[in-house]
Amino acid sequence: MVKTSDLIWQDAQHQMLFKLIDDIKQEPFDRSVFVQLQAYAEHHFILEEAYMTKLEFPETDAHVKAHDRFREELNGMVELPLSIDRSLQDSLSLFLSEWLRLHVMGIDKKLEAFILESEAK
Ligand SMILES: [Fe+2]
Ligand SMILES: [Fe+2]
Repeated sequence: MVKTSDLIWQDAQHQMLFKLIDDIKQEPFDRSVFVQLQAYAEHHFILEEAYMTKLEFPETDAHVKAHDRFREELNGMVELPLSIDRSLQDSLSLFLSEWLRLHVMGIDKKLEAFILESEAK
């Protein structure tokens, strides 16, 4: 069986999100990474949500709720005190990367398959 092509834009955007999440661990810590991550995540979520609405993806509500949960987490991180320590950097980065990994392997994979089937990619 021929493997269907991956959804290139979605995959590239996930890679960028993982890179920004990894940057939270960098020394010296640059808190602007939270703002960059927030902007990029919003760009990504809006695009996925636009596809879901347009194609009437059956799990749209649950998917948007999951995105909203991530948005709330990032809002909280953007408002953290100016200096955060090494262990907090590591735990925030780990928390976000685990969340994203599970989201990408779960509901995002279903959306990918749905979009590829619809040929609207
Ligand atoms: Fe995604
Ligand atoms: Fe998603």
